[in-house]
Amino acid sequence: MLVKLESVDSTNEEARRVPFRHGLCIVADEQTEGRGRRGRRWLSKREMGIYASFVLKPIRENLTLASLAFGWAVFKTLSPLKEGFYLKWPNDVYINGRKIAGILPELTKDRLIVGVGINLYYSERELSSFPVPATSLAAEGIKLDRENLLRELYRNVLDAYSLIESGRFSVKLFERNCPMVGREVRVEESGKLFTGKVLGIDSEGALIVETKEGLRRLFSGEVTVREEK
Ligand code: BTN
Repeated sequence: MLVKLESVDSTNEEARRVPFRHGLCIVADEQTEGRGRRGRRWLSKREMGIYASFVLKPIRENLTLASLAFGWAVFKTLSPLKEGFYLKWPNDVYINGRKIAGILPELTKDRLIVGVGINLYYSERELSSFPVPATSLAAEGIKLDRENLLRELYRNVLDAYSLIESGRFSVKLFERNCPMVGREVRVEESGKLFTGKVLGIDSEGALIVETKEGLRRLFSGEVTVREEK
């Protein structure tokens, strides 16, 4: 079921306030306090993007693995529109080195909330003020039907949930669309910086990074691919 709002502080906040109903999706035309991962803001101008939050039953699997599955669901939604979309661990969707969609999963006492933001119509001028290199479907020359995209997103998120819940989500689905595997990266985890090479993603969704000190398993953190010299 879809609930459409004109304006809200954050659809993730609204998803906490509404009575629980598994599969409910709250979509807003604009958010006045859109939130990103790691305490960042998520720019949510009126009708410039998809700002949606799904209300789901809490899962038994760990949240890192679930967030990979939801990132993959968004990737699957965008992929038919153009070649070249890819995933960045743990759940961002990129194209041509620029971020186009992000996911904010949050677990409360009685529900799993999956917030999805997709940039639709932002112009290059607007995108240049984003905190990370960003793009939008329009800036990529993609014509889209917002309602259709929402329907596909809904289907893919609910499918990803079923896969996770039944233990059938394979990390390979994510890994094979994640070109950072095999690359040298810089990692920021709990305020500490280190570098290393990504060896892959394990069955729990952790990123395996080979560093000078040995292997590290990351469950959260900010990972940047280092430019090739
Ligand atoms: C990220 O930082 O990559 C995650 C961005 C998540 C943004 C979406 S927009 C809908 C939902 N409501 C929010 O306040 N945030 C998420």
